[in-house]
Amino acid sequence: MKIKWFTRGLQTLLACLLLPALSAPALENGLARTPPMGWNSWNTFAININEQLIRTTADAMVDTGMKSAGYEYVIVDAGWKAKERAADGKLVANPQKFPSGIKVLADYVHSRGLKFGLYTDAGTEDCDGGGPGSSGHEEIDAATFAAWEVDYVKDDWCKSEGLDAKTSYSKMSAALRATGRPIVLSMCEWGDNRPWSWAAGVANLWRTTGDNKNCWDCGRESMNQPGGYPRGWTLILDRQPALQQYAGAGHWNDPDMLEVGQPGLSIAESQAHFSLWAILAAPLIAGNDLRSMPKEIAAILLNKEVIAVDQDAKGIEGTLVKKEGVLEVWARPLADGSQAVVFFNRSLTSAPITVEWPDLHWTTGRAAAVRDLLNHRDLGSELRRHTALVVSHGVVMLRLIPTAN
Ligand code: GLA
Repeated sequence: MKIKWFTRGLQTLLACLLLPALSAPALENGLARTPPMGWNSWNTFAININEQLIRTTADAMVDTGMKSAGYEYVIVDAGWKAKERAADGKLVANPQKFPSGIKVLADYVHSRGLKFGLYTDAGTEDCDGGGPGSSGHEEIDAATFAAWEVDYVKDDWCKSEGLDAKTSYSKMSAALRATGRPIVLSMCEWGDNRPWSWAAGVANLWRTTGDNKNCWDCGRESMNQPGGYPRGWTLILDRQPALQQYAGAGHWNDPDMLEVGQPGLSIAESQAHFSLWAILAAPLIAGNDLRSMPKEIAAILLNKEVIAVDQDAKGIEGTLVKKEGVLEVWARPLADGSQAVVFFNRSLTSAPITVEWPDLHWTTGRAAAVRDLLNHRDLGSELRRHTALVVSHGVVMLRLIPTAN
């Protein structure tokens, strides 16, 4: 009895602690009602970018079918700025790499039916490329971005010593709002200041960890040391389950951009990464070279049934629901009452994985149709569980749709 009362007390206490976070006002700029989708230059090109690359990538977004599949933002990451501001204090583009200027580039991206994103830093200097940061220049930079018709600002956190994250990002948020232009704010402070607990009223998305890398679990040794971050995408994944409650329409947890199609990931791993990011309601920001995309990678990024899971209207982030050693089941409740389920096999050999209805908070005996989202096949109906063989480092992704018994 005592234990029961203690548990209830603990639950009430937790509810009181969590409620303010859950009811934090969302940034009501009306944007990012579903997780943003697009492409960003950083993962393949780092600071080796120029206007021609961005133009041809915008063309490839259309030609490959990425645009039709929902990828919308073409985002220029670090490396676009000149080293110094102009005499009037405005940011300027690097004249060698972007001789036509950013407005002309944004116009081109818009002419392809896409939206345009740009990088800055909330500290005094960009992380790479040596451009000036926006600290103390939030208003003039936001006004410049609006004048250039930028639709999405990624705001990094280098050279931010002595700054308070919430104060700094709130300044940029207010400055963007004051321009009157709808601009998505993507905060990139690597989860250092627990942004999920306060950023819903500030930004449309916030990074939850350090940078995702094109490796399975690199960085494991150093990730718990001071200043260390998980790097490999499976380690980033491991940091997400506790954050589920903070995501929703207009304000998303961002486990970082996709490494799908990068050297270092097998096709099975790219598929697993993509499926799991969809379960997480993560922004789907591709980073591979779209101008030379192999068809196996296009098939992953363009899978409409997986994208539909990521973009589900209910906006509930999915999570890990069952773990037996290195065999995992992740699930996400969807707007129509169905659930998306990913079986993830971290082992070095193929293995069967099973989901039991109680893992999904369903009662045994409830009939559900099983849809295979990777092979686009209906697998019949089940009453209590579903089992599938999963390749090493791969996934099986399903939609379980309750049907009348
Ligand atoms: C940081 C960010 C990355 C990228 C680079 C650019 O590391 O987390 O996503 O923007 O800076 O320098």
